[in-house]
Amino acid sequence: MDSFHKSVLKKEAIEFLNIRSGGVYVDATLGGGGHLAEMFKIANDIKVIAFDTDMEAIHFAKQELEEFNDKIIFVNKNFSYLSSALALNYIKEIDGILFDLGISSHQIRKNGRGFSFSHNERLDMRMNQNGSISAFEVVNFYPQKELARVIHEYCEDRYWQRITRKIIEERAKKPIETTFQLKNLIEEVIPKNHSIKSFARVFQAIRIEVNKELDSLKKTLESVVPILKEGGRIVVISYHSLEDRIVKNFFKYENLKCICPPKFPKCICSKKKTLEIITKHPKLPSKEEIERNPQSRSAKLRVAEKC
Ligand SMILES: C[S@@+](CC[C@H](N)C(=O)[O-])C[C@H]1O[C@@H](n2cnc3c(N)ncnc32)[C@H](O)[C@@H]1O
Repeated sequence: MDSFHKSVLKKEAIEFLNIRSGGVYVDATLGGGGHLAEMFKIANDIKVIAFDTDMEAIHFAKQELEEFNDKIIFVNKNFSYLSSALALNYIKEIDGILFDLGISSHQIRKNGRGFSFSHNERLDMRMNQNGSISAFEVVNFYPQKELARVIHEYCEDRYWQRITRKIIEERAKKPIETTFQLKNLIEEVIPKNHSIKSFARVFQAIRIEVNKELDSLKKTLESVVPILKEGGRIVVISYHSLEDRIVKNFFKYENLKCICPPKFPKCICSKKKTLEIITKHPKLPSKEEIERNPQSRSAKLRVAEKC
């Protein structure tokens, strides 16, 4: 499993899920199946619905978890299909759900998926190989205003305007087809000591847009609460502040009993508290884990429980 992806905060995340024997769980982001294997170590009689939009992840994990295949429903779709996938399988409620967001090491490696600025590949970045829009379309065909929005909102890099302008200028001369073409043009407009940060942020911004990552997360978190059993948990590992903010704010809102303005003498809203926040502060990987697996360095784990 480690050859595909080294699972981050594996023991901690599964402990927080509070696995109950015979329960029904969702692994929203199967990847190499490392977290899922850990769930089966706790209880081998659980049923799991496992999503991954990437066919290569489904193939790999199916083989790795062969002995548990009769207990897993593999769904090669975006996790935003959660409600319909459960309904199609006659599942009304779940005991817990894990999201380990972002991409796997397998996807970043040099294998033609075009996610990384470290390898020269065609710009792609689709988690789902059948997705209709790739990074090539975003970079070359998005109208200037839309491209600026993506780079500004998702990149959080102070040089976003220069970078957007440069892309618009270059693509008018010839198509930007490869990861290195994009990397080189970013390099031309930012200070040297800032380059790695800017490459990482711009590549991440385009990836977020290609895969509509933030919309899927928001939509799916909202759909989890009604189908989660009392005492069931939502465990989320995120890797950048945009994702983490969505999770944090969602948990905070669901934790509120009332949303009336403070000056109202009595509550007139029908808001109910649906989630108890278990992690007041996000849990971070240890120094040892970061040394062993540098990809874990930005991870933040948050947990909430259905009231
Ligand atoms: C960080 S990896 C998960 C690793 C996994 N927990 C493990 O232990 O091997 C994230 C995986 O989730 C998938 N993924 C990300 N966003 C998704 C989404 N919205 N729907 C379905 N799969 C998604 C990616 O394709 C990738 O394989």
